[in-house]
Amino acid sequence: MKKINKVVIPIAGLGTRMLPATKAVPKEMLPLAGRPIIHYIVNEVIKSGFSEIILVSSEDKTLIERYFEPSPMLESTLKKTQKRSLLKEIKEISEFKIKIRKVNQKDAKGLGHAILCAESLISDEPFAVILPDMVIDSNYKQTNLALMKKHFEKSGLSSILFGKVKKTDVQNYGIAKIKKKLTKNDFFTLGDLIEKPIPKNAPSNLFAAGRYIFNNEILSYLKNEKPDSKGEIQLTGAVSNFLKDSKIINGLHLKGKVHDCGNRLGYLIANLAFSFKDKEIKKEVLKYLKK
Ligand code: G1P
Repeated sequence: MKKINKVVIPIAGLGTRMLPATKAVPKEMLPLAGRPIIHYIVNEVIKSGFSEIILVSSEDKTLIERYFEPSPMLESTLKKTQKRSLLKEIKEISEFKIKIRKVNQKDAKGLGHAILCAESLISDEPFAVILPDMVIDSNYKQTNLALMKKHFEKSGLSSILFGKVKKTDVQNYGIAKIKKKLTKNDFFTLGDLIEKPIPKNAPSNLFAAGRYIFNNEILSYLKNEKPDSKGEIQLTGAVSNFLKDSKIINGLHLKGKVHDCGNRLGYLIANLAFSFKDKEIKKEVLKYLKK
């Protein structure tokens, strides 16, 4: 079966829900317990076994690429001042074993449009999509994305990762309609994907948690998508039409937790959650919270 190597990461969004912090700093560069969000995302991509990232960015967002480039001045200063562990960490970032390429999305015309901007770099291959404001916190050895990748390489089937939300929050996400539960593993057959339904119309409380694996055919569905009322091309519409043509996409139940870092509360909670994983500050954070 075909190997899947490429991951598309759309980062051109304006981050309006996180303004004014995101006026000058891209939301993917905001720190979670000391490391920018994009650091966790790139780590997840590497851990999941992919070899290439396609950043769909905008011209003025250069900080993200710079973060992954070597910084000789900083490295030599850290060497001189004997800050060995910091030096090691800084070097590791620029030595991440992954190819990163970039395309620009000139207008913010939605997630579907962002993926189409990457078409020439995706070429005729299958690909993954990661929405970087959804940060996954999991202690499992295998990432959710690695499971989805294996599933594709074994069966040729596309898949989407789903977490659980409160019924009142379904209107913020793409919500799954389950067609059939697959008993052997954590996958199910997706019947439909409904974008931001009102609670009483939601077919479940399972929301698309920002991890997708697609065969290349989804691109032609995206090209046929009409812009929505905001002028945006949505991925959800293309997924829905793909399913209507009796093609299969499976859903995977998320293992671990997903933090929506695209809003202030989710970002704050993610910061706390990742602080508890940081040996250096964990105890003090807990002490402060108990007070
Ligand atoms: C997008 C998708 C939605 C998904 C969500 C996850 O929505 O359209 O289906 O559940 O990301 O973050 P957005 O957050 O861009 O409105």
